[in-house]
Amino acid sequence: MSVTVSRPDRLVPMGSALIRDIPPDQLPKVVMPQCEVRPVLKGQKALVTGASSGIGRGIAAALCAAGADVMINYVGNDAAAKEAAEEATHCGCAHRGRAIVHRADVSDEAQVLEMFARIGDEFGTIDILVNNAGLQQDARVEDMTLAQWNRVIGVNLTGQFLCAREAVREFKRRGVRKEVSCAAGKILCISSVHEVIPWAGHINYAASKGGVMLMMKSIAQEVAPWRIRVNSICPGAIRTPINRAAWETPEAYAELMKLIPYKRIGEVEDIARTAVWLASDEADYIHGASLFVDGGMTLYPGFEAGG
Ligand code: BGC
Repeated sequence: MSVTVSRPDRLVPMGSALIRDIPPDQLPKVVMPQCEVRPVLKGQKALVTGASSGIGRGIAAALCAAGADVMINYVGNDAAAKEAAEEATHCGCAHRGRAIVHRADVSDEAQVLEMFARIGDEFGTIDILVNNAGLQQDARVEDMTLAQWNRVIGVNLTGQFLCAREAVREFKRRGVRKEVSCAAGKILCISSVHEVIPWAGHINYAASKGGVMLMMKSIAQEVAPWRIRVNSICPGAIRTPINRAAWETPEAYAELMKLIPYKRIGEVEDIARTAVWLASDEADYIHGASLFVDGGMTLYPGFEAGG
């Protein structure tokens, strides 16, 4: 009997160097997608929390462009909220909805109730809640103050609960509006890759997002028979002010790319497009899902070799 012994170097095909060792200029160029805007949310009423900047602002604009009327919630910056509303309604799309702004701290129950009362007055009802408001207050565990812990949990987790509760109350009260959607309502929780990836130095943030994951899934399990869809979008590193330090310099960007197999940072539009689709009837059978929009960050690229 003859035994063939392969030489180890034959087992490794040409060009199979570790990805982390390939110079970026030898990889295909990044091409951003060009996507058509369609009025898939025509006639729907939406609330986007934390929408005066970053991901929330992009989602508000995309929902408007897809035909929804949108309430832009914000907490601090009146001028930025007004700009966000203008941006949302001047997108050049024929079907765009209208945008209004509302100041409220989502971690405060009374302010959330007031905000939902206003959305009722202005829009009559709500069809889509985008639970986006969130913040980071980073510190090593031994230095983290209770105030930092409570603020992040308060906005990122309790704020999502309070808004989801009010939305569910309205969705159940009103039921399906057949003319705009086959669901009685949609809730999108903006979570993070850090609902599964532990994050040293950010324990309050990671705990809040881990909490969002099971809150979202538990609400989804509870309200599904009422035809209320509940899902999360889990962004990876998206180019916004919250993570400026991670992309601002070429050195930081190169470091970040070690965590992203798809080799580009995410843009706000990547999340905004996902939100429109997930809120639309095109995604009608998607329920209780955490949809990672992260260029592969949750593939743990550090394990490309080793482990
Ligand atoms: C955080 C960003 C971070 C990204 C990936 C997000 O949830 O807000 O600061 O860049 O996760 O780590």
